[in-house]
Amino acid sequence: TAGGSTTAKRRAGEHAAEAVEDGFVVGLGTGSTAAYAIDAIGRAVDDGLEVQGIPTSFQSRRRALEAGIPLTTLDAVDGIDLAIDGADQVADDPAANGYGALIKGGGAAHTREKLVDSAADRFVVVADPSKLESVLERAVPVEVIPDAHTVVADRLRDFGGEPTLRDAEHKDGPVVTDNGNLVIDCAFGPIEEPETLATRLSRLPGVVEHGLFVGLADATYVGTADGVDVREY
Ligand code: A5P
Repeated sequence: TAGGSTTAKRRAGEHAAEAVEDGFVVGLGTGSTAAYAIDAIGRAVDDGLEVQGIPTSFQSRRRALEAGIPLTTLDAVDGIDLAIDGADQVADDPAANGYGALIKGGGAAHTREKLVDSAADRFVVVADPSKLESVLERAVPVEVIPDAHTVVADRLRDFGGEPTLRDAEHKDGPVVTDNGNLVIDCAFGPIEEPETLATRLSRLPGVVEHGLFVGLADATYVGTADGVDVREY
């Protein structure tokens, strides 16, 4: 997606790819930062590394195929050794609730991302400094089955949110996810208690998955102008 330094994204993605070992099953994230990791894993495969990738979206599947990474599916493996994925916002204040919590789903891929990232033994977020905030404040993407979008929007208003159905850019009508569903972006202002909000959103009938990732990331690799800053959680 737009914004952020490409050099920083590349550094973060390539650093995460270095942790991939022979025989690993790797979760392949979505977005421009994770794409650098996918490309780097592809180059390692060219050099003889044996891995199997599990994509998190149509986009990451296509990128992995182009990079030459052999692919598999969740139901065909015993587990995932490492997942590498981007984020739209990362909670970066160690003293606040939900240090290391994420907002994802800017590319409408958060449902499969959460499934794959949470199945991994280790989940590494790759980001540039523009993603870091002391308190999460972006609108939270909420994937809903199409029939549910008005009912869920009403519930989100009850929670104090401002819901907007995400429209497609090159189509008259809404964004349709890889799973055939719709996305509501819900602004809540600063999210002081991400775990509480995540639990509330998960309970709503009609919600397939939301983009708050709390307690899932094991580390964030932040690419900078001169290297990579690592936060371990
Ligand atoms: C996809 O739905 C998101 O969760 C992405 O992981 C996120 O948008 C990161 O993309 P960039 O690395 O391009 O910012």
